[in-house]
Amino acid sequence: MAQKCPDIQFTVVDTDAKRIAAWKSSSLPVYEPGLDKIVESRRGVNLHFSADIDSAIYKADIVLIAVNTPTLAQPNNSISNGLAAALDLTGIEECARRIAQVARHSKIVIEKSTVPCKTGDFISNILDRYGHPGVMFDVLSNPEFLSEGTAIQDLLEPDRVIIGGKRGTEHAQKALASIYAQWVSTDRIVTMDLWSAELAKLASNAILAQRVSSINAISALCEATGANISDVARGCSMDSRIGSQFLRPSIGFGGSCFHKDVASLVWLCESLGLYEVGKYWQQVLRINEYQKTRFVTRMAQVVDGGLLNKRIACLGFAYKGGTRDTRNTPAATICSALLEHGAQLSIYDPKVPGQSIIEHLKEPQNMPAETIAASSIASPFSPVFSAHDTTTSNVHICTSVYEAIANAHVVAVLTAWEEFQNIDWYRVSKLACNPAYVFDGQLVVKDPAALKGLGLHVIAIGSPAQPIPDFSLGPDEIKEKAEAFIGMSQLQSYVDHKVSVIMNDGRLVVGMLRGLDQTTNIIMQECQERIFSEDEGVEIVDLGLYLIRGDNIAVVGLVDEEADAAMDYETIRGAPLQPIRH
Ligand code: UGA
Repeated sequence: MAQKCPDIQFTVVDTDAKRIAAWKSSSLPVYEPGLDKIVESRRGVNLHFSADIDSAIYKADIVLIAVNTPTLAQPNNSISNGLAAALDLTGIEECARRIAQVARHSKIVIEKSTVPCKTGDFISNILDRYGHPGVMFDVLSNPEFLSEGTAIQDLLEPDRVIIGGKRGTEHAQKALASIYAQWVSTDRIVTMDLWSAELAKLASNAILAQRVSSINAISALCEATGANISDVARGCSMDSRIGSQFLRPSIGFGGSCFHKDVASLVWLCESLGLYEVGKYWQQVLRINEYQKTRFVTRMAQVVDGGLLNKRIACLGFAYKGGTRDTRNTPAATICSALLEHGAQLSIYDPKVPGQSIIEHLKEPQNMPAETIAASSIASPFSPVFSAHDTTTSNVHICTSVYEAIANAHVVAVLTAWEEFQNIDWYRVSKLACNPAYVFDGQLVVKDPAALKGLGLHVIAIGSPAQPIPDFSLGPDEIKEKAEAFIGMSQLQSYVDHKVSVIMNDGRLVVGMLRGLDQTTNIIMQECQERIFSEDEGVEIVDLGLYLIRGDNIAVVGLVDEEADAAMDYETIRGAPLQPIRH
C-alpha cells in the first residue's frame, strides 16, 4: 500500500520490539517473495516501523487492526475434537481499548484480522465506552484475501476489495475505497454492511477449503476404481461454472487459515443453534483429516513388511510450496503418524529450518480421535498408530532431496515445492533402496511409468496402488485368474450363484466373484445380514477384483445356499485371519 500510495504515511506498530527491529533490518520477520524489495524502497520514505504504539495511534486518521486471533484452547475432552472453535479476541479487544484511550480526534478503525461475524460491533462498543467525549469512531471491515507466497501479487491485482460498514459510515467507506482506487479498478471495490463483509471472508475460505476436500474425497474414489484424478479434475474444471482453481488433490490443506476459519464457522453455526449447517462444514475438516491418515494407512498396507524400521524420505514440510510457514501443515501430522509406525524419517524442506521441524514433531498432533479410528481400518498384519518410539531421535534433517533419499525404502512427497517437479529420478533410483516406493502426495511426478522402469514404484494420491483389473474381462477369464491366484481347483464350482464371506485387511467384507446374477446378490445380502449387523461396517466387494489385485485376503467361508444353512457363523466371526497368500 505504501508503494501504491506515496502521499500517505504508513506506520507499522507492534508490541514486540524485536519484531519491529527485524522489520527495520535487512532480515524481515516474514518470508514473502518480493516483499523485501518493496519494504526497502519505501522504508523511511512513507513506510515506518515503530514500537511507540500510542504516538502512532494518536497521529493516525485511519487505524488498521491486524492482530492474531488464535483459536481458543479447548479442553482435552472437547466433543468437537477441534472441528469447531471459538477464536480468542483478546488481541482485538486490547487494540480497541488502546485506540479508545489514546485517540483525541475522530478516526476510522478498520478490522483486517479474520474475525467471527459481529466482531465489528464488539469493537464499536469498546471504542464508544472507553473513548474520549466528542471523539467519533467509524468501524469498517476490510477483510484480507492474500495467500502466502503470492501476497504481493494478490494485493496488487485483487479479485475484489470488500469494505463493510454500518449505516452512517458511508464517508469512511468512501475514504478507504479511494485509497484502494489508486491501483485497483473501482468495479472491483465493493461495499456492503459490516456483518456481510465479516462473513464473506469466513465463507470464502470455507468454500475454498471445501473444494480441496471435495477433490480429495474424489481422489479416494479414483484410487478404488482406477479413474484418473487429474482427468476427473480437468473434466470438472472445464465447466466454466466450476473453474480450475483449488481442484488440485493433495494430502490435505494446511496453513493458519483454512482449518481455523472453517472451525470458526462451525462454532458460529453451533452458537446460533444451526447444528445441521455446522455439521455440513465440519465434514470439510473431517475429509481433510481423513486424507492425511488415509495416506499413511495406504503406505503401511502397501510397503512390504509394514513401516517398522523403514527409512522414509519426506520431501517438504511447509504447508504449501513457496512458504516456510508450517502452521497446521499436513506434513507434521503425517510425519508423526509415520514415527508411530516405527519408521525412520529423513526430512528435507527447501525453506523450513530443521529446528522448526523438530519442534513441530515434539508437539502432539491434533488429529481428531474419530479420524484416527477411521484410519485404523488397516491391515491386521500391520497395526496402525501403535506405540513406537516417537521421539525425534528417529528424525534426520537433510539439506537436499538426494541426501534425504539415500538408502530410503520410501519417498513421500509432502509439499508441492516446484523443486520436486524437477527431481532427477534416475539419481534417486541409484541412491534409494531397490525397489523403492514413491508416495506422491502432491502429484509432482509427471511420468510414473518411466519411474517404474527405474525400480521406483509410484503410488500417487488418486491412483490405485495396484493395477485395477480390466473390467472388460469376461467371467471365464476372471475365474481363471482367480483360480490361479487362490490355488483352489474347486473354485470353479463356487463362481456362479455362490457367496463368499471373506475378511480383507481387517475389514469384514462379503465378497462375490464376478458373473453373479441378481439371485446371488439377494442371497449375498441375506447372508450378510445374518452374519453382521450394519453398524459393524460390513462392505460388499467384488472378490474377483480383490483376488486379481493380489490383496491380502483370508477366506473364512465359501458358502452356497445349502452350505449357508449349515454354517456356524458364530465361529466364523471369531475365527483368526489366515492369509491364503501374503
Ligand atoms: C488462504 C486463502 O487462499 C486466501 O485467500 C486467504 O486470504 C488466506 O487463506 C487467509 O485467510 O489469510 P493460504 O492459507 O495462504 O490462503 O494458502 P492457499 O493457497 O489457500 O492454500 C491453503 C492450503 O490448501 C495449502 O495447504 C495448499 O497446499 C492446499 N491446496 C490448495 C490444495 O491442497 N489444493 C488446491 O487445489 C489448493
